[in-house]
Amino acid sequence: MNILLLGSGGREHAFAWKIAQSPRLEKLYIAPGNAGTRACGINVDLDPSNFPALKQFVQNNYINLVVVGPEQPLVDGVKDYFQNDPEIRHIPVVGPSQEAAQLEGSKEYAKAFMARHGIPTAAYFTVTRDNVEDGCIFLATKVRPPYVLKADGLAAGKGVLILNDLGEAQSELRAMLDGKFGAASKKVVIEEFLSGIEVSVFVATDGQSYKILPEAKDYKRVGEGDTGLNTGGMGAISPVPFATPEFMEKVRTRIVEPTVRGIREDGLDYTGFIFIGLMNCGGEPMVIEYNVRMGDPETEVVMPRITSDIIDLFEGIVHRTLDEKTLEVTPRTAATVVCVSGGYPGSYPKGLPISGLPTSTACPSIVFHAGTAAKGSEVLTAGGRVLAVTSLGNSITEATEQSYDTISGIAYDGKYFRRDIGRDLL
Ligand code: AMP
Ligand code: GLY
Repeated sequence: MNILLLGSGGREHAFAWKIAQSPRLEKLYIAPGNAGTRACGINVDLDPSNFPALKQFVQNNYINLVVVGPEQPLVDGVKDYFQNDPEIRHIPVVGPSQEAAQLEGSKEYAKAFMARHGIPTAAYFTVTRDNVEDGCIFLATKVRPPYVLKADGLAAGKGVLILNDLGEAQSELRAMLDGKFGAASKKVVIEEFLSGIEVSVFVATDGQSYKILPEAKDYKRVGEGDTGLNTGGMGAISPVPFATPEFMEKVRTRIVEPTVRGIREDGLDYTGFIFIGLMNCGGEPMVIEYNVRMGDPETEVVMPRITSDIIDLFEGIVHRTLDEKTLEVTPRTAATVVCVSGGYPGSYPKGLPISGLPTSTACPSIVFHAGTAAKGSEVLTAGGRVLAVTSLGNSITEATEQSYDTISGIAYDGKYFRRDIGRDLL
């Protein structure tokens, strides 16, 4: 089987690493990939948003399956593009249709979906320029601080504001509607604040049945002790100790099953991964958000825990035979620690040489590349998140210590990482 994987981050390196282990793989192409994915397949200089170029590539290279890493091509309709073209319709795409991708692409769409299907989530109110006064009244009378304001559309993970002061929340609401996050915040969803601890739950679905993948905890803030600005994610741990069998059973019956049933009842074409961002509110799971893809850096701990064949899982998803497949998972703990560029999530330099990357397969960690580029024999930094160093261990401490040990041998100017990944779970 020949596979085309779209994307270029740590998530895609983790997918590529797992796909490359399948005896069923013939050729793996990654578009555009990074310096790390070269070890798993062939990087191709293709823009995942350039659908005509993807068509030409899949035809010329006898691709049998397309796996989509990031949300943007899905929200832009890559799945529909394939299905609507008789020449490439036979090539299945792992991912939802454009309409179903609205579960991530529009917060309001996701909230209405949850309301319709009885899925537990925070109360909400949608505001546009036409009802901004109602929005201000909702803030003043219906919710208590902290106030949660969310841009409706995709805002590269930056579209959520959490504010303590009512006046500030009302003025930020106006600023968002006036284009603070561009077109993404022309509509704003105000939400009730949920307090608790977050967990990321991943589901593979063929639109009928589903499999729950290993869950993970992500560390979003840049600073130790969960301080400072939000990032794409500074590390992740799987499994999550507080996601007990009892809690996960509530997640399955109250959230996963109604979500898959809702997809079916709404007639949505969904053959892919659902990433459910949950809040554990005193033992009761509530949905914070849906994403229509895997998480990053969560994939860097989920893939290493899956011991069964990933191509088999993909086939179950796209051929709607998921109920015939088995998913096997190791009970060991996976930890990933993300090394970022100095200055991230603000501005940061690119193109700095990275030294000390392990070359031997004897290295006990897996060094997933996130933002790297190859220049001849050199590997250079090419993004905010540079590397995600994953280790498996018999405990959180063992896994994280192994990753920190591996990181100590890797150098580039401005290297920064959090030293407390997983510590809150001990
Ligand atoms: P989202 O883009 O919806 O995942 O929101 C980004 C982050 O904001 C989440 O990961 C949470 O940490 C936080 N957040 C979002 N919605 C809420 C909420 N209703 N209550 C508390 N925190 C929230
Ligand atoms: N780690 C959070 C995300 O992928 O959106």
